[in-house]
Amino acid sequence: MSTFKAGILGATGAVGQKFIRLLENHPWFTIKALGASDRSAGRPYSEAANWIESSPVPQTIGRMEVRSCRAADFGDVDFVFSGLDSSVATEIEAEFAAAGIPVISNAKNYRTHPTVPLLVPEVNPDHLSLIESQTFSADGTGWIVTNPNCVVVPLVTTLKPLADAYGVESVILTSLQAISGAGYPGVPSLDILGNVIPYIGDEEPKVEAEPLKLLGTLENGIVKEASFSVHATATRVPVMNGHLLSVTVGLGSAPASIDEVADLLSSWKSPVSELDLPSAPEFPMHLYQDQRYPQPRLHADSEGGMQTAVGRLRKAGVLDISYVAMAHNTVRGAAGGAILNAELLVKKGYIQ
Ligand SMILES: NC(=O)c1ccc[n+]([C@@H]2O[C@H](COP(=O)([O-])OP(=O)(O)OC[C@H]3O[C@@H](n4cnc5c(N)ncnc54)[C@H](OP(=O)(O)O)[C@@H]3O)[C@@H](O)[C@H]2O)c1
Repeated sequence: MSTFKAGILGATGAVGQKFIRLLENHPWFTIKALGASDRSAGRPYSEAANWIESSPVPQTIGRMEVRSCRAADFGDVDFVFSGLDSSVATEIEAEFAAAGIPVISNAKNYRTHPTVPLLVPEVNPDHLSLIESQTFSADGTGWIVTNPNCVVVPLVTTLKPLADAYGVESVILTSLQAISGAGYPGVPSLDILGNVIPYIGDEEPKVEAEPLKLLGTLENGIVKEASFSVHATATRVPVMNGHLLSVTVGLGSAPASIDEVADLLSSWKSPVSELDLPSAPEFPMHLYQDQRYPQPRLHADSEGGMQTAVGRLRKAGVLDISYVAMAHNTVRGAAGGAILNAELLVKKGYIQ
């Protein structure tokens, strides 16, 4: 396997730092360039970034000079990951793609764009072919792929086998979201300590819209969105890492029993499990039988933070079934998810 030179846009932020930590010993990708705002550009990374990861900044990274996020400054990379603030991602990501530098983004800006894949490799790997319709660069060498909102990853991972087996008609969920999901410095401590905030601005529309594209079908080169309805309530809780969701689902046809659903979720195999992607969890979903599980503090790091944990599966008094799902928001829901996307893009020949 060849190795590839990666850049990181938004390298100084919470997601950017997670990219650096997860890529430190990556077998395929080497970090060659770090970009951030003009406030950080020109400074050594160790001075520009307020490092919040628990292991130290890798020495080679700490010494690298932060660049401005201009494509002309990133000519030496094969592709870039983006952890850019959404207020600047639209222009910067398009500029890189136009310059022939593929962008693998965490930002929300292009998730609903009709030719941009919104990708979870285990759920909709076939949507990658949308890349071929993109016109960001004149010769097609620059393109954008996105990963979904961090709540949506455990949601669609659990909905995918249900949709294939029974059909999904409606979903009601409440998310209990960790504070690391708000970046740094994030939510003021006086607001969140010993408290729950029952609203996260701009979150619920993404959680309600993105599953429809992810579980949509590719027809004549475009995604025909799934047609079920989603009602989401997003809350912030004083947990460091791991978004937990309480989900109730209305199914298209009735399962024979709740045990049948448990077998379905436990035996589910990802369509990319045979590809040996370095960041792919061996078991993308784990169903806990113990009614006390999953818990963010105990299970967010399972399989390197890349596994969706499920529990409390039961027949529901409203709609059909309910369960709890949980995943690490800055790993599976952000940097780790984007790295897995990049690995699939290599395997499928889009990154060469
Ligand atoms: N945190 C999560 O769990 C999570 C999960 C999924 C998706 N996301 C998305 O990922 C992105 C990053 O989130 P985050 O939590 O890492 O945010 P963050 O900590 O606020 O970091 C934002 C990054 O964007 C850079 N930036 C800001 N303005 C810029 C400009 N004008 N030009 C170039 N770079 C600029 C910042 O550089 P400076 O340091 O120089 O200001 C920093 O590197 C957001 O779009 C977010 O919605 C986050």
